[in-house]
Amino acid sequence: MNHYKLLLLPGDGIGPEVMREAEKVLTWLGQAGIASFETEFDLAGGAAYDAHQVAVTDATIARARAADAVLFGSVGGPKWDHVPYQHRPEAAILNLRKELGLFANLRPALCYAALAEASSLKREIVEGLDIMIVRESTGGVYFGHPKEIVTLEDGSQRAVDTQIYTTGEIERIARVAFMLAKKRRNKVSSAEKNNVMKSGVLWKRVVAGVHAAEFADVGLEHILADNCAMQLVRNPKQFDVIVADNLFGDILSDAAAMLTGSLGMLPSATLGEKDPATGKMNALYEPVHGSAPDIAGTGQANPLAMIGSLGMALRYSFDMLDTADLLDRAIANVLAAGVRTRDIVSPGISPVSTAAMGDAVVNELKALSK
Ligand code: IPM
Ligand code: MG
Repeated sequence: MNHYKLLLLPGDGIGPEVMREAEKVLTWLGQAGIASFETEFDLAGGAAYDAHQVAVTDATIARARAADAVLFGSVGGPKWDHVPYQHRPEAAILNLRKELGLFANLRPALCYAALAEASSLKREIVEGLDIMIVRESTGGVYFGHPKEIVTLEDGSQRAVDTQIYTTGEIERIARVAFMLAKKRRNKVSSAEKNNVMKSGVLWKRVVAGVHAAEFADVGLEHILADNCAMQLVRNPKQFDVIVADNLFGDILSDAAAMLTGSLGMLPSATLGEKDPATGKMNALYEPVHGSAPDIAGTGQANPLAMIGSLGMALRYSFDMLDTADLLDRAIANVLAAGVRTRDIVSPGISPVSTAAMGDAVVNELKALSK
C-alpha cells in the first residue's frame, strides 16, 4: 500500500469543520487498504496571525514543500479586518502559491443532475455542465510591482497595481490547459482583454504560438474576458477548458462556481512544475469557497468542496484515478439520494449537518467498494 505525507492547513472559519470531513475519507482510504496517509497539521491565515503575527510562517511553508501534497481549508474573517495588509489572512494562500511555485490553479465546475435546481440558472442551461477553469496563479496583477498607494504633492493619493506576464509564464499555463483539454472534449477557450491590455496582446499571441507548435489538434478559441463572463451565464455548456490569467481566472471561476448551485460544491487544485530530477510536484488542494465566518461553528457548512479537493489530490498528486472516480461517484450518489447541506437544500428536504454529509460520503464509499 502506498504511503503519502499530507500537510493539513484547516485555517479559519469553516475550514477546520470541512477539513474534519476530508479526514474521515483519508481514514477510510487507509482502512480499506487503498493508501495510507500520514497527516501533519499547521496554522494558516488568521489562526497563524494570532499565534505568530504572520499569515503563514516560513516553517509552515517548508513543511508544505516537504509534504507530498497540502490540503488547505479556508482563511479570513472579520476578526482580522484590521491586521496590517501584508499579514492579512489571505496572504497565507498567496504566499503558499508563490513560494511553492503553484502556477496552475485547476477549478472544475460540475453541475450534478441532482443539484440543477439549486442553480440560479434554468435547469437546461446548467444540467450536465462540466467545465474546467485553468487559472494562472503565481503572476499577473496579484504579484506585479509596483503595488502601492502613494501620497501625491497635493495630498491626494494614487494606487498602483501592476499586471505583468512573461512569455514563459503564459506558455506553461497554456500547456496545462491544452493537456487537460486533450483528456476532455478537446477545446480550449483563452480569455484575456487584448483590446485594452498589452498583457492581453501577449497572452493571446503566446497561447496561439503554443497551440500552433504543440497542440494544433486541440480546438482553440480566443475570447475577451468580459464576453467570457457573459457567455458563462448565457450558455455555459459551450465551454470545455477556459484558460485565463490570475485576476480574470479568479472572477470567472466564481461565476462558474455559482452555475453549479453552490460555492460549497467546488474543489480546486493548484499545481507546480514537476521536478524533472525527482518527479516531485508541489501541489495544494483547497475548496473554492471562503471561510464563511457567519456560519462557522454551526455545523451547516457543506464539506463536499473540501472532500472533492481531496479527490483532486488523489487524481493529480497520487495518480489514484480509479479511487478519485470512486469518490466522485460517491458524492454524486449521496446528492442523488437527497442528502443536502443547507446551501444546496431543495423544497421538502431538511438539511443535514457538515458531519452527517461527511459520514454519508464515507458510507457510500464503503457501499460502492464492497
Ligand atoms: C481565490 C480567492 C483568493 C484569490 C483570495 C482569498 C486571496 O478569492 O482563491 O479565488 O483571490 O485568489
Ligand atoms: Mg476567488
